[in-house]
Amino acid sequence: MEQIRPEEITDILEKEIASYEQELKMEDRGVVLQVGDGIARVFGLENCIYNEMLEFPNDVMGMALNLEEESVGVVLLGDTTLVKEGDPVKRTGRVLEVPVGEAIVGRVISPLGEPLDEKGPVITKETRPIEKKADGVVFRQPVKEPIQTGIKAIDSMIPIGRGQRELIIGDRSTGKTAILVDTIINQKETHETDSPVFCIYVAIGQKESTVARIYDVLKRHGAMEYTTIIVAAASDPTPLQYIAPYAGCAMAEHFLYQGKHTLVCYDDLSKHAAAYRTLSLLLRRPPGREAFPGDVFYLHSRLLERAIKLSDEKGGGSITALPIIETQAGDVSAYIPTNVISITDGQIYLEPDLFYQGIRPAINVGISVSRVGGSAQTKAMKKVAGMLRLDLAQYRELAAFASFGSELDKATQAQLTRGERMVELLKQGLYKPIPVEEQVLAIFAGTRGFLDALPVDKVKAYEEKLIAYVKEKYPDLLREVRKKGTIDDDLEARLNNALEEFSKHFAALQEEERGQSAAATDNVEEPMEGENN
Ligand SMILES: Nc1ncnc2c1ncn2[C@@H]1O[C@H](COP(=O)(O)OP(=O)(O)OP(=O)(O)O)[C@@H](O)[C@H]1O
Ligand SMILES: [Mg+2]
Repeated sequence: MEQIRPEEITDILEKEIASYEQELKMEDRGVVLQVGDGIARVFGLENCIYNEMLEFPNDVMGMALNLEEESVGVVLLGDTTLVKEGDPVKRTGRVLEVPVGEAIVGRVISPLGEPLDEKGPVITKETRPIEKKADGVVFRQPVKEPIQTGIKAIDSMIPIGRGQRELIIGDRSTGKTAILVDTIINQKETHETDSPVFCIYVAIGQKESTVARIYDVLKRHGAMEYTTIIVAAASDPTPLQYIAPYAGCAMAEHFLYQGKHTLVCYDDLSKHAAAYRTLSLLLRRPPGREAFPGDVFYLHSRLLERAIKLSDEKGGGSITALPIIETQAGDVSAYIPTNVISITDGQIYLEPDLFYQGIRPAINVGISVSRVGGSAQTKAMKKVAGMLRLDLAQYRELAAFASFGSELDKATQAQLTRGERMVELLKQGLYKPIPVEEQVLAIFAGTRGFLDALPVDKVKAYEEKLIAYVKEKYPDLLREVRKKGTIDDDLEARLNNALEEFSKHFAALQEEERGQSAAATDNVEEPMEGENN
């Protein structure tokens, strides 16, 4: 009998082991069964996990969304035309991640962190998974610091705190984006303090020209120094639009866990829901109400739950979320609007009627609320604007009655006069955020009746000149309002004095102007014949 040599045995064993390993690897690879509409069906990825990154040939990435018995439904994130039937698919074992870090600040990037500006690649070593379970209640604390939007109507009546989720809702073209842009611009002042607010603006399904305009405005106002713009435009693949807000949130969380503050704007979640509906229908999930899949509520709740004010032990960082929802003809009871309203801590309603009347920002104060921001509002603002929301809502009702031309008693007339002037005072132009102490001064003038004697069309001029006047003559007054954060009796008396003094000054100015314009009309020459056509 032939003797078996030990070398032979080790040889055979080694071969077996080698082939055994290969078999193991085979399990982690799959094959494309079917591909189309940005979706691939992959066979053979039994151990695949939800939201896992999958590698296709030609550097195309995919994300596993449907884990079924026979196959895995994958959305493709790259150039989908490069994927063919029969292509091998490799697992990475990792949930989809995006690059995070300081390198993204000041950049315009895709949701996957690819640069869309001319500043070269985004160089950062760190990544974060796009989906993460939000921190639980024990790691949180109530909001206590304000996010100043710089918009009088919001900061006075619908104050927002760091860590809050405040929905901005309204029909198309009612100034929703404008509120976000103003708020981002206004965060500039926080960068001179020790708790700066970084901003992330996520554009979902918008025209690229709109995003370019926003970039331009932010850059002109010096706001790009602390802002990141994440773009998944209307022309980008649907999966990119779907992951964009989660990517934005992951990038914000990087700052959050360093104890920093971030403001994330999702513009807008209606388009995000539509993108998700498209994906779900292509993945053949059963459609429900308005053809949305059954988990569309969870889509936004798990995103907005990640807005947070961390406890001091965890560093005290915060993520404030300002999502936008676009309504159709003011219908706030549609599926997606009601969902998002119920998840957020309040809403700012914008109305086309007000917008076209020239009341801009077109905020309907009667039905706009901020449920938690009040505790973050400065005491000074609370004191001067405490009753403002109620008064304005009452004014709207009264104004509707007054238009019937019925006889009015004195008190009602006074209320109408005050209301009209307050509405005028709260109008605010684009990209002109106002520091909180100047807002307090202007609203103080309104609620203490200094505007009542003025014609409505002079209110704006009064406000502008008042702020300039006090800035020049009593700069310490404004500084004190800012620093103290509250108005005590002494400060109130001094504010009153300053306002009385200015009111006299303003009346004199008006007198002078009237004199000048009268003189000017006397001097107008008759137009020459033939000049009119
Ligand atoms: N406070 C304001 N004062 C003057 N104009 C404003 C103000 N806010 C918005 N606008 C103007 O209204 C128009 C629409 O604003 P914006 O794009 O912010 O609205 P939107 O609701 O985001 O629109 P869309 O539905 O297209 O996204 C813009 O042309 C903007 O210049
Ligand atoms: Mg917009």
